[in-house]
Amino acid sequence: MELSIIVPTFNEGGNVDELVRRIGDALGGRSFEVIFVDDSTDDTPDRVLATAQRAPFPVRLRHRESADAGLGGAVLEGFELAAARWCLVMDGDLQHPPEDIARLLDRAAAGDVDVVIASRYASGGDSRGLADATRTAVSRLSTLLTKAMFPRKLATCTDPMTGFFLVDRDAVDLSTLRPRGFKILLEILARRQLRVAEVPFSFAERYAGDSKANLRQGLRFLTQLTMLRFGRMSAFALVGGVGAIANLVIMWGLIRLGMDYLPAAIIASELTIIGNFLLLEYLVFADMRAESGRLWHRFAKSFTFNNLEAIVRIPIMAMLVEGAHVPAVLAAGLTLVAAFIVRFVFHALVVYAPRRALASQSAPEPAEVSGRRTLDA
Ligand code: GDD
Ligand code: MN
Repeated sequence: MELSIIVPTFNEGGNVDELVRRIGDALGGRSFEVIFVDDSTDDTPDRVLATAQRAPFPVRLRHRESADAGLGGAVLEGFELAAARWCLVMDGDLQHPPEDIARLLDRAAAGDVDVVIASRYASGGDSRGLADATRTAVSRLSTLLTKAMFPRKLATCTDPMTGFFLVDRDAVDLSTLRPRGFKILLEILARRQLRVAEVPFSFAERYAGDSKANLRQGLRFLTQLTMLRFGRMSAFALVGGVGAIANLVIMWGLIRLGMDYLPAAIIASELTIIGNFLLLEYLVFADMRAESGRLWHRFAKSFTFNNLEAIVRIPIMAMLVEGAHVPAVLAAGLTLVAAFIVRFVFHALVVYAPRRALASQSAPEPAEVSGRRTLDA
């Protein structure tokens, strides 16, 4: 087997037949398989099975019941299932034309590469198929930001966010990948210095169905970037910073509505405590949720800690306001900064203290060291 084609799908029923047909036409004569890693709630799995019956090459289906791991997790699962060493990842909606696969294979065969990327932004490529001007601007800006954060690893890559690429699975340490959301290629490229080549391509219009990209994916991307670049602690700090600002804005708004500053501070604090917990759950610690017990237990711990913090902070703020006549929102700001430092130190030294006894026996957990290991300098 020369090639495994991995297609992550989420409700792409209308695209399956056409995709398999075009792959077959484009790659006739080569030895390859197509693996659909599917999280659909529509008829996509049935369509894949029906197409597999007719196809003159192996078409495999891995259907998963929960879409929790998302697109990135699906691709990772595809790598694990693949029979070939070279894996091609492409979307299931025909925005990645199967006719371009041969050029990727030719580039890989020419040697000296671990990854061949189909780039929209290399000269000769284009991104006309992106839904609209906003999507194009977001794509351009996030590409720029990402390249700035990994100037060396992404030096020869114009499109680290593309979902269309060919990779030598043996060059990638699958166990270090922490797929969050859509950007699996970025995860692969940022973890380890790989030899990257590019082939331009034209990003086409969707054949059928709708895009699954949304604001949540955008947030996940930002978290992924922060974690890859600075490690989990900074993502944690970022969430804390956003929470502190939200806290002040809510408090200011409630005071404007005529509420006394103390109840305003309490309501603002409780709302941000809950908001912060959700951000930690779904962004910063999303990959660790499964192993860390019940949601309610984590919520109870986090809620208790943060309320203790507020119980200390709010009287101090009151002292500043009543005693030192500091304006209420400024006093809240000062105490939030102090509380933030305490919380950061507490989490860094207590909650996430390296488990010394364990560390000497077993290898360090990849998620924790990854921040250091990926330093790009
Ligand atoms: N298994 C699985 N699970 N597949 C998913 C999931 C999921 O949770 N979410 C999306 N997919 C599949 C879709 O069915 C499609 O085949 C592919 O992933 C890409 O999803 P689209 O919804 O078509 O995304 P897009 O076109 O907006 O984004 C594409 O282009 C971006 C570049 O602008 C993707 O290739 C992105 O990875 C890429 O960054
Ligand atoms: Mn698409």
